[in-house]
Amino acid sequence: MYRTHTCGELRVENIGTKVTLSGWLQKNRDLGGMTFIDLRDRYGITQIAFNMETNAELCTQARKLGREFVIQVTGEVAERYSKNKKIPTGEIEIIATDLKVLSKSEVPPFTIEDQTDGGEDILMKYRYLDLRRNPRQQALMLRHKMSIAVRNYLDKQGFIDVETPVLIKSTPEGARDFVVPSRMNEGNFYALPQSPQVFKQLLMVAGYDRYYQIVKCFRDEDLRADRQPEFTQIDCEMAFVEQEDILNTFEGMAKHIFKMFKNVDFNEPFKRMPFSEAMAKYGSDKPDLRFGMEINNLTEISKGKNFKIFDDAEYIGGICAVNVVDKFSRKAIDKLTDFVKKPQIGAQGLVWIKYDADGTFKSSIDKFFGAEDLQQIAQKFDAKPNDIIFLISGNYDKSLKILGDLRLELAKELNLIDNNKFAPLWVVDFPLVEWNEETNRFHAMHHPFTSPKPQDISMLETEPAKVRANAYDFVVNGVELGGGSIRIHDSEVQRKMFDTLGFTPEEAQNQFGFLMNAFKYGAPPHGGIAYGLDRWVAMFNNSESIKDVIAFPKNNSGKDVMIDSPSPVSKEQLDELKLLIKKD
Ligand code: AMO
Repeated sequence: MYRTHTCGELRVENIGTKVTLSGWLQKNRDLGGMTFIDLRDRYGITQIAFNMETNAELCTQARKLGREFVIQVTGEVAERYSKNKKIPTGEIEIIATDLKVLSKSEVPPFTIEDQTDGGEDILMKYRYLDLRRNPRQQALMLRHKMSIAVRNYLDKQGFIDVETPVLIKSTPEGARDFVVPSRMNEGNFYALPQSPQVFKQLLMVAGYDRYYQIVKCFRDEDLRADRQPEFTQIDCEMAFVEQEDILNTFEGMAKHIFKMFKNVDFNEPFKRMPFSEAMAKYGSDKPDLRFGMEINNLTEISKGKNFKIFDDAEYIGGICAVNVVDKFSRKAIDKLTDFVKKPQIGAQGLVWIKYDADGTFKSSIDKFFGAEDLQQIAQKFDAKPNDIIFLISGNYDKSLKILGDLRLELAKELNLIDNNKFAPLWVVDFPLVEWNEETNRFHAMHHPFTSPKPQDISMLETEPAKVRANAYDFVVNGVELGGGSIRIHDSEVQRKMFDTLGFTPEEAQNQFGFLMNAFKYGAPPHGGIAYGLDRWVAMFNNSESIKDVIAFPKNNSGKDVMIDSPSPVSKEQLDELKLLIKKD
């Protein structure tokens, strides 16, 4: 038997018991007469004591052991002389009588403790060592507990877990596919699923009216803190439902998870906010509602003052930072201006109006705006002395997005965000399609199977941009934790949708014929949602990046530096697949 107990288990009650522990050597301290080893496993750390006077041979042996050696120790549990209140086993130690090295270790490339000295690259390369650290283990434990809670909840609600294939055909979630060449079907490729979307819809046609799966999805897109090329969805679909049924079911699940893991009760229904309102007030389709600072539309009152930039603009809007005039020196405003001018934000400039403590106004548009004009703008925000208003103008959508980014930046800088707060909401009524400048055609905002609102269907052929979808996102603290929609189950509406998206009937048949065929054999009304498990766990774990809650994530270039992937394949493999690598 390698162990009688774990390294996190023994307490004062066990004093006098003979025990055997196995684990990794975290620390070895030689104090002359005594040597102490901190022995670690995933349950905790226990101190092992070796006494030079009573057992010199064993003590000498212990002193030679290095960090991360795997050892087995037998001994008696004793009360500790100097107690460590910081760890649960801190009142006891093991007086060792036997010691066995199970496996030696080279000196690890970084310290394996809660706070490590390793940089990002080295931690990723030796991820299996990084995973020994307590914060990583806590994150994976949380992930495990959350997926069990989700499974139990959905099981109780009658959902069944059905696995869907990984080698499939392209799924239209808007990102690029990862493709896999087929040896048996020369020149043909599988695509990895961006989501199980079409399969879950086929399961509805097959009559499995409550489906779920905790499933890997694959998307070849630019990576960010909350995006990985492979990630996990809690993917769900229901038949014979309307949007309201889905929102209620999954709001119930969200509340259950919040209660279980954060002990937060939401007694009121989650807020529902139309997409248009989210954009107009927060400049984002995933508004962070932990703080105010809402955007105001100033277009009407800011035109006609001979300020050409405003007069030419489609939209002028602003936000008001409260009681901060003294924080915005010229330099601080320049810094904020640089922020909005960054290429990824895209503003041309930033207009500011200071409402000084003495009740007067100062602004970067004083040449065009008199005190009364500025007062009128201030009134829109109900501004008080010491407030400062920032204005952006230009194209409607773009200006709002810039104001949304500015709002978040200011909130961070001014410490307006309460990190202990959760502000969930449903964003609803998304546009069905959006115009894509690059491809010069409409793209589905969610995916092409999303149902238009029945009252908007008549506009599908005439004004597609105005059609709203039965689509919804679940947003918490500015993070999109989930999204879904009611699907089209009528082949005529689906045909119109493909038409709007610029698919010829042949293209639609070629790509989605199997789904349209299935719909010919009795498709129930259906809809669903997918929650992003990684994002959800990261939020509950207070992690900035979802990498923290994934055992083996990719780095920002989409690489796994530990296993060195992606990497070239042999000539034989390429030959077998009849593939040639094009060299420029
Ligand atoms: P959607 O594309 O909105 O919907 O994805 C659902 C949720 O998955 C998470 N997510 C990601 N997480 C980490 N890395 C990524 N690259 C990534 N991309 C998405 C987000 C997101 O809200 N088939 C539809 C769902 C449906 O209609 O039922 C879908 O995949 O949390």
